[in-house]
Amino acid sequence: MADIQQSTVALRPGRATDSSVCGRICYEAFEAIARQHNFPPDFPSVDVATELITMLLSHPGFFGVVAEAGGEVIGSNFLDERSTIAGVGPITVHPKVQNLRIGRRLMQAVLDRAAERQFVGVRLLQSAYHSRSLSLYATLGFLPRESIACMQGSAIGIVPSGYQVRRASEADLQACNHVCTLVHGHDRAGEILDAIKLGTASVVEHQGRITGYATDLGFIAHAVGETNHDLMALIGAASAFAGPGILVPLRNGALFQWCLSHGLRVMQVMTLMTIGLYNEPTGAYLPSVLY
Ligand SMILES: CC(C)(COP(=O)(O)OP(=O)(O)OC[C@H]1O[C@@H](n2cnc3c(N)ncnc32)[C@H](O)[C@@H]1OP(=O)(O)O)[C@@H](O)C(=O)NCCC(=O)NCCS
Repeated sequence: MADIQQSTVALRPGRATDSSVCGRICYEAFEAIARQHNFPPDFPSVDVATELITMLLSHPGFFGVVAEAGGEVIGSNFLDERSTIAGVGPITVHPKVQNLRIGRRLMQAVLDRAAERQFVGVRLLQSAYHSRSLSLYATLGFLPRESIACMQGSAIGIVPSGYQVRRASEADLQACNHVCTLVHGHDRAGEILDAIKLGTASVVEHQGRITGYATDLGFIAHAVGETNHDLMALIGAASAFAGPGILVPLRNGALFQWCLSHGLRVMQVMTLMTIGLYNEPTGAYLPSVLY
């Protein structure tokens, strides 16, 4: 595999039958880069990576592309097409054939797809310690927007007084969209609806109305609140933080310090990068690593 030529690499849409090979490559690519930098891997096992890739390859809201050479799959990339802003990732290339411009082609494929589908903006989160992906995305036109701390720890179990957190239902969708539009200028209805159906979404109420929501509290989930108190309530009520942890924008110093003072630890720093429409958030939020 190591001696493949760029000219022999072909891209094609991902298929459900690619799940296990793409899942293994996804795990191995992230594990190798994390190990080189002495960080914990984003995926704890091949099974966890494969479960995510299986979902992405079967969900109609995602576009998947794979790279092949000599009939062998050597990488993949995904585009979340469920909401106004498209989300990229996870992108992975087999560790033996990295740095041969295969990642660039996989990125270009999802950007072409986003243009074809007329998305007004595209977003991704990048591991700050990975100089190659940072440079690749920047040369493709992505602008760094802000630094994000991935934070993990024990459940906090404290909710500010006057705030109530409960499981979200489909009846809450409109109110969640309203909060998201207030903060980001657009909704993320596709992600919220999926999370409500999965049973991972929660809402926070303050003075009798919904003032924030979370699709879950974790790496592959986002949250939005009118104020930091809304997010503190959502984070404080969570029984655990899924995957490597929640993603806290560093420029929201008050929230970051609150998380630190409640025992959460920084696992790694990431960079939020975007192309096209990007509205400066006007409230509190936690981005998702993927979508
Ligand atoms: C990220 C990843 C998909 C990139 O794929 P790849 O095939 O290795 O990357 P490419 O060869 O297409 O592109 C790398 C580019 O970065 C450039 N680059 C690499 N290191 C650089 C540095 N330190 N400074 C500036 N540019 C750098 C290379 O020159 C190349 O640019 P070029 O196409 O203009 O020559 C791959 O490395 C991977 O699977 N990593 C592990 C998983 C991961 O981190 N995924 C991304 C999560 S954010």
